Amino acid sequence: MIRICLIGLGKTGSEVAKVLLEQQEFKLVAAVCRPGSPKEGKDLGEIIGCRDTGIVMSGSDKLEEMVFRTKPDIAIDFSNPEATMKNAVILSKLKVNMVIATTGFSKFSLKKLFVLTKKYHNGIVYAPNITLGVNVMMLLTGIASSILNNYDFQVSEEHHNKKKDIPSGTALKIAGEIEKALKSSGAEVEPGSIPINAVRAGGIVGKHEVQIAGDEDIISISHESFSRKAFASGAMRASKFVYRKSGFYEMSDVLNLSSVLAKYIENDKKRQAKRGYGCRSAKEEKPETVTS
Ligand SMILES: NC(=O)c1ccc[n+]([C@@H]2O[C@H](COP(=O)([O-])OP(=O)(O)OC[C@H]3O[C@@H](n4cnc5c(N)ncnc54)[C@H](OP(=O)(O)O)[C@@H]3O)[C@@H](O)[C@H]2O)c1
Repeated sequence: MIRICLIGLGKTGSEVAKVLLEQQEFKLVAAVCRPGSPKEGKDLGEIIGCRDTGIVMSGSDKLEEMVFRTKPDIAIDFSNPEATMKNAVILSKLKVNMVIATTGFSKFSLKKLFVLTKKYHNGIVYAPNITLGVNVMMLLTGIASSILNNYDFQVSEEHHNKKKDIPSGTALKIAGEIEKALKSSGAEVEPGSIPINAVRAGGIVGKHEVQIAGDEDIISISHESFSRKAFASGAMRASKFVYRKSGFYEMSDVLNLSSVLAKYIENDKKRQAKRGYGCRSAKEEKPETVTS
């Protein structure tokens, strides 16, 4: 059983807590809020609107003491970048691995998180894009971008009006994936040149879309989260992955989608070879029969 400490019990953390409390493989042992928050000292159940859990909310100023008391294996973080950076130093020193789902870090902060894993030999999954669906979307975008490398690209994202970082970490990552795919397919692309359009409105959980437009056609690849429970599934998958590991990882490492794709291509080649495609000489080629 993996012992979890949840940091940040806001909109997302609260939903993640509800899911974690129902799991057999995970035991939620601690919940951390902002120091001085009205949540401090209350039972977690009261915060998330369920039964008493026996988990008393601690302020992050008591993180060290809380770790000694509850011995978590992994801390899942849905707070804010400033809090994460402070908490990550303490947790790394204490060898508590982390799944960081918080977004809005500077490049410098990300480098610092990476350095922490080198210094303390702990494990961190940095996951600004924690759902399986959005990672599949990124993979599809990368493939489409390398094939349609002379098309125009536009990334759009929509989130609730309380989301602080704009554009979202995921939108930036998608734009980065497009740039990488274009470069590796031989197309020229300026860093940061893929346009991103961001909307902050109402209670939208999260939507990302990529449009790839040519002169004659357009492809749209989009992903929308209906519920924050999707974030819990991703956080649990990342926790299982980083359990007792050291190093700095991303969701692409957790999900290993490129090996799934490689297997798919390999199987497709085998299927084609079975049907005899690619084995016939030009002489043997027969025109396709068209039936209506
Ligand atoms: N990776 C993904 O796919 C994904 C998905 C959803 C959200 N996110 C990210 O997760 C973060 C949280 O999102 P949200 O929508 O849940 O925001 P939110 O509702 O504002 O929740 C943030 C929570 O962090 C808490 N907090 C502030 N300082 C803290 C500290 N020092 N220690 C512990 N907790 C602290 C706040 O506590 P108080 O209430 O006590 O002030 C608040 O409850 C954002 O960065 C968001 O972009 C990422």
